[in-house]
Amino acid sequence: MDLFEYQARDMFAAHGVPVLDGAIATTPEQARAAAERIGAKSGGVTVVKAQVKTGGRGKAGGVKVARSAAEAGELAGQILGMDIKGHTVKTVMIAQGAKIAEEYYFSVLLDRANRRYLAMCSKEGGMDIEALAVERPEALAKVPVDPIVGIDAAKAREIVDAAGFDEADRATIAEVIAKLWDVYAAEDATLVEVNPLVKTEDGQIVALDGKVSIDGNSDFRHPDHEQYVDHSKTDPLEVLATEKGLNYVKLDGNVGIIGNGAGLVMSTLDVVAYAGEEFVGADGQHPAPANFLDIGGGANAEIMANGLEIIMGDPQVKAIFVNVFGGITACDAVANGIVGAIEMLKQRGETPTLPIVVRLDGNNAVLGRTILDDAEHDIIELVDTMDGAARRVAELAAAAK
Ligand SMILES: Nc1ncnc2c1ncn2[C@@H]1O[C@H](COP(=O)(O)OP(=O)(O)O)[C@@H](O)[C@H]1O
Ligand SMILES: [Mg+2]
Repeated sequence: MDLFEYQARDMFAAHGVPVLDGAIATTPEQARAAAERIGAKSGGVTVVKAQVKTGGRGKAGGVKVARSAAEAGELAGQILGMDIKGHTVKTVMIAQGAKIAEEYYFSVLLDRANRRYLAMCSKEGGMDIEALAVERPEALAKVPVDPIVGIDAAKAREIVDAAGFDEADRATIAEVIAKLWDVYAAEDATLVEVNPLVKTEDGQIVALDGKVSIDGNSDFRHPDHEQYVDHSKTDPLEVLATEKGLNYVKLDGNVGIIGNGAGLVMSTLDVVAYAGEEFVGADGQHPAPANFLDIGGGANAEIMANGLEIIMGDPQVKAIFVNVFGGITACDAVANGIVGAIEMLKQRGETPTLPIVVRLDGNNAVLGRTILDDAEHDIIELVDTMDGAARRVAELAAAAK
């Protein structure tokens, strides 16, 4: 999950990273009022900054200097509603204006390929770090960080030495880098980037911009991170699935997919997309997966009912593919789950009508198929192989009106 700049700024402040005062606004009037207060600390000068989760806001005209509170209000009026690389600006941050002497770059990120972290630092920060990395890679120091040790005082020193800062600045910058590492480690981030990290005319080192990505796998350790979830950006079915503890991702197609195990579901998406190439629906489109849904190991009737309910709540879905490989949870339990789920949905007043193609294999597959046969639900169709089932469900989805 990526944070907005103002959220990163607050997080930096909480960990002792020097930042300037800032406040958010969603209307020009709020922006003017905020600039009145914040500008008092910087000779009336503030910077109006678009809050969108993409870089290059400055170049796109989303970062503008205001000389007065009235001007901040006017600039906010121009920036709010602006489109920056497909992101609509709904919020601006009014930041205290800095007198910049020099702009630097610092980031630390997860280096998956090398199973460690990587710190990057340059004396030449600002807006064009990507170009710098390509044109003059020697100006961007790259320092590997041992995950066990992290960035301690010695490592921070190594980073500022590698970046070649003036001797007089190295100690102060190293101190800020160590604090940025605190943010990275304590918040379970996968990226902390500051571009620019600036030296002001009076010699302070300040983070003027901030980009933070949080590792969602650590959410259980950080109940406070819930505040960063942007619910307006989340698909309502995904929200419902999360509430029910299901691993669901909405996709664009019309074949609902349920499977047990992320790997199996991923390959189910592939075979359905492949089988779909052979058919064309009434809308002129090839059938394709409508979602990813992994119901995990213990697929009982309730979990299956919740899964089917979510998939049937997607108006795009024309046919459903339940692909289960019985393991610890055997196929007969899954079959009972499917039968029970249909009963449960009928009791909830939602009689399922979409065709459900089921492929059961693995532990107790024969028993599972017998249970489904005996249930005599006319919407359920059993197919023995994964490819065969994918082909059949694509055919049914294409035939649907
Ligand atoms: N508070 C500020 N005071 C003065 N200048 C700023 C301030 N915030 C940003 N800037 C200037 O605007 C540029 C772009 O802003 P930044 O926050 O880095 O946005 P982006 O990286 O999306 O373009 C910075 O490199 C800096 O020169
Ligand atoms: Mg920047």
